[in-house]
This record gives sequence, structure tokens and C-alpha cells, in this order.
Amino acid sequence: MRAMPGLGGAGQVAETVTAAPALLLGALPVPVVLLDAADRFHYANHAAEQFFGLSQAQLSQLRLLDLVPPDNPVFLLLAQVRRGEVTVADHDLTLESPRLSKPGITVQGTPFPEKPGFVLLVLQDFSAARALDRQLSFRGAARSVAGMAAVLAHEVKNPLSGIRGAAQLLENSVGENDRELAVLIRNEADRIRALVERMEVFGEKPLRREAVNIHRVLEHVRRLAQSGFAAGIRFHELYDPSLPPVSGHRDQLLQVALNLVKNAAEAITEAGVEPGEITLSTAFQHGFRLAVPGAEESLHLPLVVAVRDNGPGIAEDIRPHLFDAFVTSRVAGSGLGLALVAKIVGDHGGLIEVESRPGRTEFRLHLPMMSEKGDAA
Ligand SMILES: Nc1ncnc2c1ncn2[C@@H]1O[C@H](COP(=O)(O)OP(=O)(O)O)[C@@H](O)[C@H]1O
Ligand SMILES: [Mg+2]
Repeated sequence: MRAMPGLGGAGQVAETVTAAPALLLGALPVPVVLLDAADRFHYANHAAEQFFGLSQAQLSQLRLLDLVPPDNPVFLLLAQVRRGEVTVADHDLTLESPRLSKPGITVQGTPFPEKPGFVLLVLQDFSAARALDRQLSFRGAARSVAGMAAVLAHEVKNPLSGIRGAAQLLENSVGENDRELAVLIRNEADRIRALVERMEVFGEKPLRREAVNIHRVLEHVRRLAQSGFAAGIRFHELYDPSLPPVSGHRDQLLQVALNLVKNAAEAITEAGVEPGEITLSTAFQHGFRLAVPGAEESLHLPLVVAVRDNGPGIAEDIRPHLFDAFVTSRVAGSGLGLALVAKIVGDHGGLIEVESRPGRTEFRLHLPMMSEKGDAA
């Protein structure tokens, strides 16, 4: 891909950007930037603006070094491109800095024959595709839990109410010593029933969608959290005020947000992080579509809702099974929170991504928006 055939010669892009190639580059859903010999941003297309979260005008004031630390492998790649005058690609790079966090990026650098030292960088984000892969397997896991939940509900609840009733009868007819045992049986039966009821929410029910104002949902969760389990934690809200409504089920989305915030608060509290901080954010991601293997329609998931905390990060050993039921690092944990989150997000046709390291854990939801017809767009 030397002179980008069809774009009128890449050399023209920098200065004499004639309308057609500029439009083409602008419309390209892949982030493309042109760096000059000092790694200053000479050009950035729309996708690149979104990628970096900065406008073309802001980027033109910056060098790549302002966004990515100097030890990032992308600088090696740039040096190789300049030295060899060849296209160099690197896969699975992480572009990470205080203002940027992008794992799983494939970077392609191409020299610019007309402008010594200039490099055209094409950045492709495959992390979402991988998240989709994982998500599809979470759905499998959630379905198996759904099946199990149905069996449990049927096979356990009925005999359990018999046991509970019998224990209650005994309570009233046996002597003082044995009454304690009868009470124990009744209490334990109640505990099992509560567990089964928590499992039952995994059962398959068709989702009734409405237009949900996700900011109201998040606001509600924040208030609940701050007046209870997250009292000492500082909250930040970074909302995109023009965000269109989510196509979804309000109470279920509330449960998702609550579970994520609860986990974040627990991680902070258990590690004693001071000050604990949780950031709730929303964003609109243009043209975020994903091809689903084996499906005719692509997923259109432009709404991003994120819950971030400054806790210790997710323990290495549970990461591969994070969204499976009964996976927990807590003595009193049920391990059902994230399984339920994955199930609900899956029912919404959405995706969930996680990024975690010490001091920064972020769960990102990609959700469908409401179309004008009133269904998922
Ligand atoms: N924000 C987070 N920071 C660190 N670890 C987390 C976070 N969220 C979830 N986890 C880990 O994932 C596990 C599973 O979470 P969850 O499914 O909600 O079950 P539970 O909260 O009952 O343990 C937790 O036990 C914890 O180890
Ligand atoms: Mg939990």
C-alpha cells in the first residue's frame, strides 16, 4: 500500500487535499493519521479524531509523543518505516497513556515518498472484535445457566417448600432443645430458596424494549450507591448530553449498572484504596457496527456506557472466566453478578468489554439505540 492507489497519490493528501480523496479518507471507518518527520499530526481523518478523542484542530497541535509514552513499540515501528522506506505493520499493540487506553491495535505505517520522514499510520482496533468473540461464548455460558435455573426452580423449589413447612410444624410441637434445630432447617431452606430465586432471573424471557434514558439510570444508581455501599467513594460523571435513548429494559439496565458499581465499590473498599473513585461515563460511537459470525444483520451498537474504578484490578486467575456464574474471589460472593450482567447485555444484543490493571478497571457496555420506529436501531 505505497501510494494508496485510487486516492490520487498519497503525497497529495497532506497539502492539496482535493475534495474526493479528502472525502474518501474522511469517510473511511478506519483511523488514519499522517505524521510529519517530528511525529506531529499533519492530518487525521474522522475515525482518527474519534480514536484519540481529539479534534483534527487539537491533534494538529500535538505530537504522537504527547499521547503515547516514548517506550511504546509504535515508535520502533515509525523508525523502521523511516529507515527502510517500507510499509511496516505490528499487531496487538497497546496505545496507552493517561488520556488514551487502546489495547489490541494493529498499526500499519507507510512512508510518504514525496515528503521525507512523513509516515501514514493506519490504526485498526480489533479489541471490539475479540470482545464479540468472547461475548458469544458468554452467551453460551448464560444459556447453560438458564437451563440449569429452570431445572433448579422446578426440582428444588417444590420439595423445599415441603421441607420448610414440615420444619415449621416441628417448631411448634417439639421441646425447647429440638426447636433450635427446626429453626435451623427453616432458615437454611429460606437461604436455598433465595439462591434459587436469584438464579431464576437467568431464565429465558423475551425482552420488552422501551426508550431508556441511561443517564437517569446511572444517576439513580449513583444515588443508591452513595447513600449505601459506596458512601465514602467519590463519583465522577462524564455524560454525553446528546446521547440518544438506549433500546432496552430500564430495570434490567439498572441492575447491570448497579452490579458493576457494586463490584467497583467492593474492589475499592476491600483494597482500602484512598480516595476511592468511580467514574460513570457515556459516549456516542459513530458507525460502531460489528459483523456477527453466521448472522445476516450486523450489530449496530453506537452507545457506550462505562463504569471505571481505581481499585486493585481483577485478579489474574479469575479473568478467563470472569463472566461465568459462580466465579468469585469473595468469601461471601455469589459470583452471579457479572454472569447476570453478561446475560442482560446479551439479551439486549449488546456487548461488554473489560480492561483491567492495578488502579484502573473499566467495564464498557456497547448498547443499541432506539430507532424512530421504536425498536432497536
Ligand atoms: N471492578 C472490579 N475490580 C476488581 N475485581 C472485580 C471487579 N468487578 C468484578 N471483579 C471480580 O469478579 C468477581 C466476580 O464478580 P461478580 O460476578 O459480581 O460476583 P461477586 O461480586 O459475587 O463476587 C469478583 O469476585 C471480583 O473478584
Ligand atoms: Mg458482584
